[in-house]
Amino acid sequence: MKIEKRGEFIHFDKKAYDVLKHYLLYQVNSIKNIFILVDDITYTYCLPILFQNINFLKKSNIIKIKSGEKEKNIYTCIQICKNLEKLQADRKSLIINLGGGVITDIGGFVASIFKRGIRFVNIPTTLLGMVDAAVGYKTGVNLDSIKNEIGSFYVPEFLIIDTHFLKTLSKKEILSGMAEMLKHGLIADKSFWKKMNQIQIDIIKNENEWKYLIHKSILIKQKIVNQDPKERGLRKILNFGHTIGHALESYFMNVNKILHGISVIIGMIYESWISFKINGLSISDYQEIKSYLSALYPIENKISNLEINKLLLIMEHDKKNEENKIQFSLLQEIGKCSYNCQVPYSLIKESFLN
Ligand SMILES: NC(=O)c1ccc[n+]([C@@H]2O[C@H](COP(=O)([O-])OP(=O)(O)OC[C@H]3O[C@@H](n4cnc5c(N)ncnc54)[C@H](O)[C@@H]3O)[C@@H](O)[C@H]2O)c1
Ligand SMILES: [Zn+2]
Repeated sequence: MKIEKRGEFIHFDKKAYDVLKHYLLYQVNSIKNIFILVDDITYTYCLPILFQNINFLKKSNIIKIKSGEKEKNIYTCIQICKNLEKLQADRKSLIINLGGGVITDIGGFVASIFKRGIRFVNIPTTLLGMVDAAVGYKTGVNLDSIKNEIGSFYVPEFLIIDTHFLKTLSKKEILSGMAEMLKHGLIADKSFWKKMNQIQIDIIKNENEWKYLIHKSILIKQKIVNQDPKERGLRKILNFGHTIGHALESYFMNVNKILHGISVIIGMIYESWISFKINGLSISDYQEIKSYLSALYPIENKISNLEINKLLLIMEHDKKNEENKIQFSLLQEIGKCSYNCQVPYSLIKESFLN
């Protein structure tokens, strides 16, 4: 895998389609069959936009799955592989993932295993997909309620960013993506955090500012990932907010669905408190983070003791654990993060009660 050398090629808006068109038509005349993976929502809202921009893609094979995290499992992948087989996909075929993080995770994973690997392009259509899920070569699916338990590292041909897709997203979905952008500021770039704090949430009214921030956010993530693609060390800082966040997301997946980014916002609040307690984060930085994040997404109900114990059980299965110890990435200050931090259970519990 050439991850270390290549990095992803990101292209924006109109120019992105020109680059993709050129690539599909001329650069790789070896591409035989194009498959576009969508869910039922991106089929309706996003596929027509893709067709408007690249007309000849209307002739491609469309593979449509149901939308939602529940579909992100190995059985869906098997169905997609069967479809690819039936439609005579071969090693010269290409998959275009047109959707949010669920689609790019599933489609990237299928591309990495079908016939031992075929090419793929990511066209993320959610904010979270653009700034996070489609960036950084991780693909994968859930195993029952364990998030992203099966997966691979696999590099797309291109990452195409078209902010037009964001216009049909709900405010909650925008918030979910914002969470990861804010995280990028908190772990690596204080001035980016400050800029994010000032942006108005309405993307349509503030399109240019948002474009700039989306681009910057992708660059922050790429810079971290390219130094440590396989997450042996530094890349772990991207997990800030995610040890608790993933546990919340897994726990609530079957009860009362909670969006990935929303669970990360809550996770970042609790993990900032832990950072303040044991990792040198100053009280003023902690308060700044808490007041901004909790205004963005107020936590309505305190988590009960019973739930806290269940969440701890989930954290014990976190892939990031080493030697059976739950691992955290914790802030030292806004813009600086440490990884491989072990936190006593009592403190994790306390963080929920704060
Ligand atoms: N691989 C990674 O590094 C990585 C990183 C972060 C998150 N993820 C994964 O990403 C997933 C979450 O991503 P998500 O929030 O994009 O979820 P999603 O793909 O389920 O999209 C959210 C919802 O928005 C709909 N949608 C997509 N584009 C739309 C558009 N333009 N207009 C209207 N509706 C649209 C989808 O159909 C879906 O119902 C999780 O499974 C998470 O584990 C992966
Ligand atoms: Zn995340």
